[in-house]
Amino acid sequence: MAGRIPQAFLDDLLERVDIVEVIDRRVKLRKSGKNYSARCPFHEEKTPSFSVNPDKQFYYCFGCGAGGNALGFLMDYENLDFPRAVEALASSAGLEVPREPGRGGQASAEREQGNKALYALMEQVCTYYRQQLRQHPEAGRAVQYLKQRGLTGEIARSFALGFAPPGWHNLQQVLGETPAQHALLKDSGMLVENESGKLYDRFRDRVVFPIRDQRGRVVAFGGRVLGDDKPKYLNSPETEIFHKGRELYGLFEARQANRKLDRLIVVEGYMDVIALAQHGISNATATLGTATSKTHLERIYRLCPEVVFCFDGDEAGRKAAVRAMEAALPCMEDGRQARFLFLPEGEDPDTMVRSGGADHFQDLVSSAMPLEEFLFESVAQGLDTGSMDGKARLSKLALPYLRQLPEGVYRQLMFQALAQRTGLDLASLMQLEPAPPPPAPGPDFSDPGPPGHAEAHPQAQPRRREAQHTRSHGYSNLAQAAIALLLHQPAIAALADPATLAELEGDDVGLLREVLALLQRRPESNTAMLLGHWYGTPEGELLSRLAGQERLIPSEGIEQQFVDTMTVLAHAPHRSKLAAQVDKLKLTNYAEVSELEKQRLRELLQEKQRRDARGNKPN
Ligand code: UTP
Ligand code: MN
Repeated sequence: MAGRIPQAFLDDLLERVDIVEVIDRRVKLRKSGKNYSARCPFHEEKTPSFSVNPDKQFYYCFGCGAGGNALGFLMDYENLDFPRAVEALASSAGLEVPREPGRGGQASAEREQGNKALYALMEQVCTYYRQQLRQHPEAGRAVQYLKQRGLTGEIARSFALGFAPPGWHNLQQVLGETPAQHALLKDSGMLVENESGKLYDRFRDRVVFPIRDQRGRVVAFGGRVLGDDKPKYLNSPETEIFHKGRELYGLFEARQANRKLDRLIVVEGYMDVIALAQHGISNATATLGTATSKTHLERIYRLCPEVVFCFDGDEAGRKAAVRAMEAALPCMEDGRQARFLFLPEGEDPDTMVRSGGADHFQDLVSSAMPLEEFLFESVAQGLDTGSMDGKARLSKLALPYLRQLPEGVYRQLMFQALAQRTGLDLASLMQLEPAPPPPAPGPDFSDPGPPGHAEAHPQAQPRRREAQHTRSHGYSNLAQAAIALLLHQPAIAALADPATLAELEGDDVGLLREVLALLQRRPESNTAMLLGHWYGTPEGELLSRLAGQERLIPSEGIEQQFVDTMTVLAHAPHRSKLAAQVDKLKLTNYAEVSELEKQRLRELLQEKQRRDARGNKPN
């Protein structure tokens, strides 16, 4: 028998054929909105519930739950096995089906090899730049610049600072001898291509700061001009091994310098990190010209329990702080802390520590404003919190933030703090809590939920039967919600940090992990390819059901929704029954939550308050 059909060919095939044509040749389709519909060929029906989505290249029947891509349709409709269906589809597209001798998995191995070569190249570039800082005839100006900024050779060494000499073709001359090396240099982002296709060095006549990943591998560079030219800083572009939204400058160095990190100071610039280290404050890290993201913070909180954000005291600084707070809220599990330090206008950590000294700076850091204070202060801005109206507005503005907090004592305390500030009691605040932001998928109580949950909801029974009758629609857990988003927009897989996935547990999390792994291995996969991958398995059925629920997907903010869902999921192993209940409500349109569900939530909250109160008392 011929060998395996290469995955790349299947992907290519699915990309070339149009499912609408494939199906329409067999079952007459009618345009309906942006989709096509027909009476389902797989079950008896009077009104059409069979729908074909041309954008995502899959079909789904709301009546019987059949669904899949063009290949799956052919297999089911013509009763073909997989290779025959591939042959049939390929020949309709005028393609020959290739076969490969060995097993699969080659693509990811190649990719891994490619990355290895990239890491090695970046290391070579780093070594070269460091040499230039010592040897290049023009290096004196760079050394002078670093000295003038108060840095010693020792600090320059520990941050592996270098000098990208003037000239347009240094790297190509030194490291680009073979065509392979040359191609690698291009992939590394160290070269720039001009309009006529000529390549030249990205960093010229600049001090360079290697950016190292968690494991200390150089993944990118930042470069600063020696004078007042513009742009002041240049940074490596995103590459296969460098993702700005994930890396933190100086984090590796901070871990090297501290056996145990109790606190990390998040600053804005490369030079802030280095100047602080120069003054013995070796626990600072900087985002790379982007806002602090949840991914950044999750990374930090895995290493240490406290973050102090450092901002300018001006308007822009306040705004950046609010964004940092928004990113921090979902990470605030019990035991974690976030605080905010606002520096006087026109100062940054570099200038502050140089003029005021290390002790003064440490004092400022230690007395930075706690998250809760900053949150209430910033939402109360411009409100007369003494008036009834002001209090009402305060709770309205604060609630969306508090809702971001993960389940735990801290969340509870924040609700209590809000209750105190507004004079509202906790229970009514919880009730005031508005519906979750879109994508609120429709209600679905077919989920048996955590143990003991079903008995508590006798009323849910009729709904459940009804749901089963029309097949259940909606997500019964967060992993399904995440999978649905991935099916809808596979590219968002890049936003998930594989490290968090390893720890996930729960229903359908295994499938989520597999979908993510596949997408991270083969980022170009589309919905139809995903469905094809699991075709004919129970997972495949779940996938096509989720793919068919497009109406539950928000029209925008998908990335954020996905990141949020993954964040909540990442904490799943530690979550309580209460959390499960809250999750369930998050997935539900609040207006449709039954009184019983609300009552149950209140009970669980009270139970928790009682437990917490008992736990806080001595003996
Ligand atoms: P700042 O302008 O605050 O830089 O930008 P800085 O660190 O204080 O600079 P100097 O060296 O002391 O004058 C903060 C960060 O924003 C990014 C860099 O990551 C920088 O460290 N940035 C800034 C750029 O990417 N490009 C620029 O042109 C400026
Ligand atoms: Mn500065």
